[in-house]
Amino acid sequence: MGFTNQFQCLCLALIFVLGAWVPQAMSRTLQDASMYERYEQWMARYGRVHNDITDKEKRFQIFKENVARIESFNKANDKLYKLGVNEFADLTNEEFKASRNRFKGHMCSQNELLSYKYENVTAVPPTMDWRKKGAVTPIKDQGQCGCCWAFSAVAAMEGITQLTTGKLVSLSEQEVVDCDVKGVDEGCNGGLMDDAFKFIQQNKGLTTEANYPYKGVDGTCNAKKEANHAANINGFEDVPSNNEKALLKAVAHQPVSVAIDAGEGDFQFYSSGVFTGTCGTDLDHGVTAVGYGVDADGTKYWLVKNSWGTGWGEEGYIRMQRDIDAKEGLCGIAMQASYPTA
Ligand SMILES: *[C@@H]1O[C@H](CO)[C@@H](O)[C@H](O)[C@H]1NC(C)=O
Repeated sequence: MGFTNQFQCLCLALIFVLGAWVPQAMSRTLQDASMYERYEQWMARYGRVHNDITDKEKRFQIFKENVARIESFNKANDKLYKLGVNEFADLTNEEFKASRNRFKGHMCSQNELLSYKYENVTAVPPTMDWRKKGAVTPIKDQGQCGCCWAFSAVAAMEGITQLTTGKLVSLSEQEVVDCDVKGVDEGCNGGLMDDAFKFIQQNKGLTTEANYPYKGVDGTCNAKKEANHAANINGFEDVPSNNEKALLKAVAHQPVSVAIDAGEGDFQFYSSGVFTGTCGTDLDHGVTAVGYGVDADGTKYWLVKNSWGTGWGEEGYIRMQRDIDAKEGLCGIAMQASYPTA
């Protein structure tokens, strides 16, 4: 009798305790399970494979944190841009930066009082989109090779080539990566757009993407392909630095290579809208300004071509706020701009 009573009492107590505890624990597990399912869908979409379960678990934790960050950012809704769970969602910001952003901008600073060919331009169109003029090739993907500088320079060269010859030809980044190994340029380990222009000029041209396709790893220079020239430039000019007006005059005339600070997490997950930061001016990424405009709400922007595939940003492009208070421009976009001349 006493035993039964005690047992019943214990059971009741247990049920009471469990009753309060189980639903909470279950919902926690369900939430995690649905996040895990989402992670596996994401993995399938981007072709991620993990042979090692600890590695998969580690990536899942990073994914989960990134998703939480992206969703809370988008919920806040006080920004002109949105973030998205893109193919970089299982990378920490440090890992992301290390694999892609290898512009060596800190190694040289640009003059604010340079003379350049567009300096006396007085009027520019209110908007410009070089894609609409047929001067921009489709978005490319540098992969896990830090040769953004080559993509930036080649995109600017594709632009000036189309403007002078009327023909849009996709040119070879891999040739620059493999063959331009003098000075600071070190393929996937980084380089400078201006040095890429110098290399192309000295080589008397650059071959096509089709002839010397992108591999995304450092390779040995193929001298035969290097000697095949599909396009050439006469040289290059730097835009006076820290001057968005000077940059505007240049971008009004041709696509321009620009260096930016793309190191922040917001940039990694940018998905749409006019990007307003946050970012610093520690230049670490080479991209190409291919136009400018004004958003429906009056925000001025630069139209920028990136080399992270079409899954990032607005089909591979980002609109970055233009004419900000700081003379360096947003993310330092006006600090080290340059363009090839033909
Ligand atoms: C711009 O105008 C100044 C003053 O007339 C002149 O010295 C300079 O050469 C011009 N620059 C270009 C690129 O034509």
